[in-house]
Amino acid sequence: MTLELKNAKLKKWVEDMAELCQPDSIYLCDGSREEYNRLASQMVASGLFTPLNPSLRPNSFLARSTLDDVARVEERTFICSHRPEDAGPTNHWRDPKEMRTFLSGLFKGSMKGRTLYIIPFSMGPLGSSIAQIGVQITDSPYVVCNMHTMTRMGNPALEVLSDGFFVPCLHSVGVPLEKGQKDSTWPCNPDNKYIVQFPEEREIWSYGSGYGGNALLGKKCLALRIASVMARDDGWMAEHMLIMGVTNPQGQKKYFAAAFPSACGKTNLAMMTPTLPGWKVETVGDDIAWMKFGKDGRLYAINPEAGFFGVAPGTSLKSNPNAMYSIARNTIFTNVALTPEQDVWWEGMTPETPPHLIDWLNQPWTPQSKKKAAHPNSRFTAPASQCPAIDPDWENPNGVPISAIIFGGRRSTVVPLVNEAFSWQHGTFLGAGTTSETTAAAAGAVGQLRHDPFAMLPFCGYNMGDYFGHWLSIGKNANPTKLPKIYYVNWFRKDDEGKFLWPGFGENSRVLRWIFERCEGSGAAHKTPIGVLPAPGAIDINGLNISEESMKALFAIDIDKWQKEVEEMSNYFSIFKDKLPQGISEELNALKARLKAS
Ligand code: OXD
Ligand code: MN
Repeated sequence: MTLELKNAKLKKWVEDMAELCQPDSIYLCDGSREEYNRLASQMVASGLFTPLNPSLRPNSFLARSTLDDVARVEERTFICSHRPEDAGPTNHWRDPKEMRTFLSGLFKGSMKGRTLYIIPFSMGPLGSSIAQIGVQITDSPYVVCNMHTMTRMGNPALEVLSDGFFVPCLHSVGVPLEKGQKDSTWPCNPDNKYIVQFPEEREIWSYGSGYGGNALLGKKCLALRIASVMARDDGWMAEHMLIMGVTNPQGQKKYFAAAFPSACGKTNLAMMTPTLPGWKVETVGDDIAWMKFGKDGRLYAINPEAGFFGVAPGTSLKSNPNAMYSIARNTIFTNVALTPEQDVWWEGMTPETPPHLIDWLNQPWTPQSKKKAAHPNSRFTAPASQCPAIDPDWENPNGVPISAIIFGGRRSTVVPLVNEAFSWQHGTFLGAGTTSETTAAAAGAVGQLRHDPFAMLPFCGYNMGDYFGHWLSIGKNANPTKLPKIYYVNWFRKDDEGKFLWPGFGENSRVLRWIFERCEGSGAAHKTPIGVLPAPGAIDINGLNISEESMKALFAIDIDKWQKEVEEMSNYFSIFKDKLPQGISEELNALKARLKAS
């Protein structure tokens, strides 16, 4: 092979993988605009990309996957640690040796008839001491173009790598082509999907899917599953969190990180337009945060990604104008509907539904059609730099200092609008107890309550009990006055008639304001059995049409229901057996006791 790869390990790995996968050709990505355009043109020619109307949506494309390749596949995601107990009860474990042998069989000849693309990429600003380098091998040009947007890739990443460490990420759609065989527009292998992490070797193998987190291996596989293990070993944090800057009318600024289960409005919150006069929100990231302690003892966060891979349905100028402006150009849309003007559409995008569309399956569609025009998990891939609310420090290699960490989920009952943890240990318990009603981001049933500790359930690369322990040890080893305060929010509580009690979206700035004030030592509050809640009147509802009853209902703590919640939580935690850290049991018992005493 004639590829100029100075990193000897990389060269050897590429050679070995090329020998295994037997591609027709090998191409080292340089990360240039020209390269992106060339691959996009090739995909237009192959039918995978439909170019959108350049006067409405410049340099943007629509891709359509297939019915059986539309989401991350948790049941096909494996953690191959040497000991099963290191994967833990929330992950699918496989023996690493057996898995390697099995995957080597699957990957053998899997790239026949295709090009093997080598994508060197940086998760995080190039050269940042918090960033990590990965190299993805893939046979999907769709993946290459998405990686262009989602990471810093190509020559600059290769230069930073030099002869250093990288995470090898091997990906194939799993459809070798015989000579003369016609390719399908979205090749994938639905019967053989394997998204496999080897945490101890820091290695990723993904086979059979071309979609999202299954295929863009820098995102969930590297930046969360593998990085969570690196973070445990090296004393930092890899979290499924947005990062936002919040500025008050006096111009003071604080950064918050927030973890919500998939498709709970994280992108909306990260890019929120506050309704409170004089307040400003700026976006550092919408999905993942890597946090390390700075010399001053504070936690600093970077967004390892360079783009947004956001859920399209529900995104509109009303719900998230900044997202709409971010996707005005240079965007790849996947599985949304096409308008007669060759622009995109999805449910919730406009107040009126267009009379005629081509749906995500490339079929004519009218509002009378029974099915949705866009797939509920359809996505946009857009450069973060295009977000009008992007934070001036979003690429600061040193990260931004975090003042508050916010957890939350979709709960129609029981959980109040906002709750402040008594301590880091109590906050860790709140994160561990995160539950949410499910949505369409992952394959599986929609609308059921599921435990999703720290919103990391599908993303933690090791035993979740040990992960709780890592959080507790971060708290123990830090100066408590420098640690972020921890909150739990619920924008989704409903009244007895099933109507949302809280308007959400930009009005959530009212809750952020209280959190901001609490971080400053002001903000009226009172202790309750479950945590510290805003004192009556402490949430600014000026100009908001909300009744006093609704405000009361938003903060109501029903002791009976909480006792049941605690029972349920304690059942859930029992799955971790002896891996459940003492700090979590202590908090559970303390909550039980406080509820009993109240
Ligand atoms: C995502 C997810 O795609 O969390 O970000 O599912
Ligand atoms: Mn996510």
